[in-house]
Amino acid sequence: MNRPEPDTDRILTQAAERFGTPAYVYLTDVIEARIAALQAAFGRWFRLSYAMKCNPNPALLAWLNGRVPFIDVSSGGEFLLATGAGWDAGRASFTGPAKREVELRTAIGAGLGELVIESLREARLADRIAAGLGRRQNVLIRIAPDRVPKGFGDQMAGRPSPFGIDVEEAPEALAQIMALPNLRVAGLHIYSGTQCLKPAAIVENWGIFTAIFRDLCASHDLRPDRLIFGAGLGIPYHPGDAPLDLEQVAAGAADDLDALTSDPRFADTELVLELGRYLVGPAGYFVTRVTSVKDSRGTRIAICDGGMNTHLAASGHFGMVLRRNYVIHRVGGGEGEVKTDISGPLCTSIDKLGTNVVLPRLDEGDLIAIHASGAYGPTSSPVNFISHPTPREIVAEGGQLRDATRIEGAGLRD
Ligand SMILES: Cc1ncc(COP(=O)(O)O)c(C=O)c1O
Repeated sequence: MNRPEPDTDRILTQAAERFGTPAYVYLTDVIEARIAALQAAFGRWFRLSYAMKCNPNPALLAWLNGRVPFIDVSSGGEFLLATGAGWDAGRASFTGPAKREVELRTAIGAGLGELVIESLREARLADRIAAGLGRRQNVLIRIAPDRVPKGFGDQMAGRPSPFGIDVEEAPEALAQIMALPNLRVAGLHIYSGTQCLKPAAIVENWGIFTAIFRDLCASHDLRPDRLIFGAGLGIPYHPGDAPLDLEQVAAGAADDLDALTSDPRFADTELVLELGRYLVGPAGYFVTRVTSVKDSRGTRIAICDGGMNTHLAASGHFGMVLRRNYVIHRVGGGEGEVKTDISGPLCTSIDKLGTNVVLPRLDEGDLIAIHASGAYGPTSSPVNFISHPTPREIVAEGGQLRDATRIEGAGLRD
């Protein structure tokens, strides 16, 4: 079984005892190490942009400010959370397929760095808003490639897709956007797939990006400030998943990226790697307490105070085709091996966080921890469903624990 360091277990226990459960605990040391690993592997080509959709916790955003150079927001609400946490609006890009007028007006008016244009309709609307505000807005044009290699857990292109401008239509659309007087095309953006654990597929995908970037920039005589690569880097979620080997990705992509960066057209171009889960996913644990146990027809069931309402992804309802267990352990260890079903507090049979998980025998009051929970946790969960307590969010920095709970619902706390 996959057990963390005893130190981690001590932090998880303290967090649960001081602040209550269910709780997400984010270990900043782990994020720091991941930033360093990304810089070591890719720093000679890329700077990083944190896609905050995966974890918009304000305390975490404030901690990341200064440690990661850029942030990507995907709504007006995220823009306000990022700037509220201290991020300079000029360091933000704004993606999203259906931005509303109020969101565009707010972000452009506040000095947004780059608007990521996903359609001609959006370009025209942004042009009008920028004109009204007396600004010329920097934009990146999001392109949807016609192909995504196999191996990505979630795919945003390579088939009919709401995201970005289809590559077949990009030459014409780019020409039209470049003609809009209040927008300045500062570069291109592609995010076509994510959660990939196969180095070769990531290398192939970035190769697709560089080919598109080169073609479009040459045909439109564009010398971009920025090219954004949607990283697609995956993390291990399930028992037996092997972590992605960044060095293998770097080795595979090196020739292509070196050729791009040494091309005079891209001499002043900054390449940016946009990613979320790889940075923060493995830094988070979800801790839930067993409120009740039941032996039902030969199966031991641990019923916990957190379930799909607080961790939708671990319940398998956030983009997983077949539900598979996350890595789960009993906090503090314990004797024996019992196949256990882990369910949550909701009155629905789909509220399951684990089936047949081999764990020490669990009893009422025990704590279990679900790994790889730092991304797409509270933000992606239906926390109001059945009005149980929303999860605590605890930031653990150098052994110090801080309550950074963001969402307060109607649930009764102990
Ligand atoms: C445009 C865009 N950027 C960034 C991300 C972040 O992906 P991940 O958290 O898998 O790195 C996504 C994920 O859906 C996305 O659609």
